[in-house]
Order: sequence, then C-alpha cells, then structure tokens
Amino acid sequence: MKLWSKGFEPDKMIEQFTVGKDRDLDLRLARYDVQGSMAHIRMLESIGLLESDELEVLLKALGEIAEVIERGEFVIEEGVEDVHSQVEFMLTAKLGDIGKKIHSGRSRNDQVLVDLKLFMRDELRHIAGAVERLFNRLLALSEEHKEKLMPGYTHLQVAMPSSFGLWFGAYAESLADDMQMLVAAYNIANQNPLGSAAGYGSSFPLDREMTTRLLDFGTLHYNVVAAQMSRGKTERAVSMAIGAVASTLGHLAMDVCMWMCQNFGFVSFPDELTTGSSIMPHKKNPDVFEIMRGKCNRLQAVQNEIALLTANLPLGYNRDLQLLKDIIFPASTELIECLDMADFMLQHIRIKSDIVEDPRYDYLFTVEEVNRLVLEGMPFREAYKKVGLEVQDGTYRPVREVHHTHVGSINNLCNKEIADKFASIASRMK
Ligand code: ARG
Repeated sequence: MKLWSKGFEPDKMIEQFTVGKDRDLDLRLARYDVQGSMAHIRMLESIGLLESDELEVLLKALGEIAEVIERGEFVIEEGVEDVHSQVEFMLTAKLGDIGKKIHSGRSRNDQVLVDLKLFMRDELRHIAGAVERLFNRLLALSEEHKEKLMPGYTHLQVAMPSSFGLWFGAYAESLADDMQMLVAAYNIANQNPLGSAAGYGSSFPLDREMTTRLLDFGTLHYNVVAAQMSRGKTERAVSMAIGAVASTLGHLAMDVCMWMCQNFGFVSFPDELTTGSSIMPHKKNPDVFEIMRGKCNRLQAVQNEIALLTANLPLGYNRDLQLLKDIIFPASTELIECLDMADFMLQHIRIKSDIVEDPRYDYLFTVEEVNRLVLEGMPFREAYKKVGLEVQDGTYRPVREVHHTHVGSINNLCNKEIADKFASIASRMK
C-alpha cells in the first residue's frame, strides 16, 4: 500500500529497488517524524485547516505512536515504503478520515527534511558530547603527565624535547577546532524547512514561524527552494565535521600504534586491552587503535561520497537524495563508537618514565645547548656551529634539562586557556 496509490501497485522489483534500506534506516527518524507531524498539525489548526477537537484526537494518537517508538516497538510494516507512510497509515487505521487530514500543505519531501534536520541536530549533540568527554580525558592526562618528557620528531627523526603534557594537550586543543566544525554543521542543520512542501511551497497560508518555534529550530530556511537544497548540503556539512574529528582521532590512533611499537615503547596498555596472534605467543597488538585508525580514515571519505552523490543534481527533490541516509547514519554512529573507545582506552594508558634518558635521544638537547650559549652572549649562528661541530666530532654531551616557559610550551601548557576555549565553542551548540 502506498500513500500515492492510485489503483495500481508497482512491480515488486521496482518497489524493492526504490525503497532500498529505507524501512530499516527510517526507524531512526521515527521519533522526529512524529514531532514534525505534531508541529505541523498544531499549525494547521491555527490556520483553520483542522478543527480543535480533530487536533486533540490527532495529538493523542501521535503521542501514543511516540510511546511505541520510545519503547522500541515501532516497525515499518512489510509493503509500507517509509516512516512517513507508516505513521500516516497508523493514524488513518485508528482515526479514519481525520488521519488523512494531516498531510495538507506538506509533502514527504519537506517531511523527511524536517526529520533529518532534527535527527542530525541530535546526532551532532551526541558527537559533541563524546568529543567533550575525550577532550576532558586528554586534558586531564596532559596535566597528570606534564613532567614526563618524550622525544619530539620532525621528518620522523629525533628533533627536540617534547612531553606527554604537550602530546595529550595537542589532541585536546585540536578537538577544539573540530568542535568549531560541529557547531557550524549544527547551525546549518538547525533551520526549519517545513512548509517548503514538495519544494515550491503551498497555496495554504502556512505559518512557518510557528512550526519553527514549535520544533525549536534556531531559524528557518526562508526560501522554499533553498530549504530543499539543504538536503545534501546539510549532510555535507555534517560529514565535514565528522571528517574533521575523524582526522584528529585517526592521527591520535596512529601515534598510539607507533608509541606502542617496541622500537619506541613509550606507552602500553593492560594485557586485556591488547590482542594476540594465532602463531606468535608473545604478541600484544594494538588492534583497537588500528581499527580506529582505519575507521577514521574511512570516515574522512564520507564527505567525498556525499559530494559525488549530490554533485550536479537538478534543482528540486530527486530520489537520489534518499541514499544520503545510508551514508550519514552509519558514519555518525561509527564516529561516536570510535570516540568512546578512545576515551575508554586512554583511561588505562600507561606512560613510560625517563624515556629521554636513553642515549639514542641525546641529540634532542642540541638546541637547548645552542640557546644556552646564546643567553651567555654568543650570536646564534656561532652557537649553532659550535654545537654542530661538537656533534660531528663526538664531543657533544647533552644537558637533559628543559626550560620552555613561553605560552603553549612544555612548562607552560596553558591547559586552562585551552579548556576555556573549548567550553566557549561548545556553548554555541545549544
Ligand atoms: N524516502 C524518501 C527520501 O528519503 C522520502 C521522500 C519521498 N519523496 C518522493 N517524492 N518520492 O527521500
């Protein structure tokens, strides 16, 4: 049975191909579909397209459907195309003709848009929550381990002293940048498309400001065509934010894999958080961080997939857009899983002390020596040459002390400032 049934049923193969995974994916939209319908019918009543007793009956029935959804018992029945059809069928099955009234001035095109925007708004809040938890973990680790030095590398060659305070704090502050992207995506999602109907508005005097208020959208997509164009554009913004977080997290995962390698041996995890080999009895592998790295790399491809799916589509609704759900829904879930896993693993990370005492890291301290000579009055280029020659003839002896006091350096991490910055960005996602 179709909402658009006109006396014939489409071929089964056609139906399966076009409905695709919607009956499954749309389950995640069900609660938002009901919210959208509640706002729409309240508005219809306010402009005289529904009687107030009809509104009451409809709101009650929708409320009951919402309870079924919250109990996890909502299903999209065999032969029903999508969540929008299922909700409407449930209403008409219960209420007859009154149920058939709710779709005045609305199309599934703006209905699915509303659902998606409400959904993405919530997903972004969840992602932001997981980012914030990881941020706090990283910053706490930065404070806890700020005295522990580690080698800093350039070109993957031993370069200058770094520290676990810097390393953890760097990923925390990087997440603050990603948070900006999440906030931007949130603001793009937080606009009401309802009333754009099929994509060109309606001859009913729809009160779009009212539905904007009822659905707690920050503003509306005023132009009805722009509203429709936001399908795909919103997903793209979300995928860019997802990609930004994934890039930070994937990078962190790579570092951990490397620092866990015996050649570095800077960090380790309790045995039960590592994985083994079927042949080599000694193995304690970093599979968690490898899977995380792989997933995060794939998540950075999502924005390309969306860009290609939506590139050069004709203006207005096109069914291609349905496929966006299958890209963005799992991406968001997977990112949250990766963030939660990173937070869990980092709770148990063990950091090696005295790493830089190892003679292989002697040259980390050459610049410290150059700078010491400069402070004693020697011009920089001369000091550089002096230490360089000592390195060359084997007489260089490192002094393993660092006094880095400027803002953002080893002995002045500015973690409080970083925390304040993060909080101020995060507060913009209300
Ligand atoms: N499942 C469809 C989607 O996600 C719902 C909108 C259908 N609209 C249409 N004109 N066929 O896009």
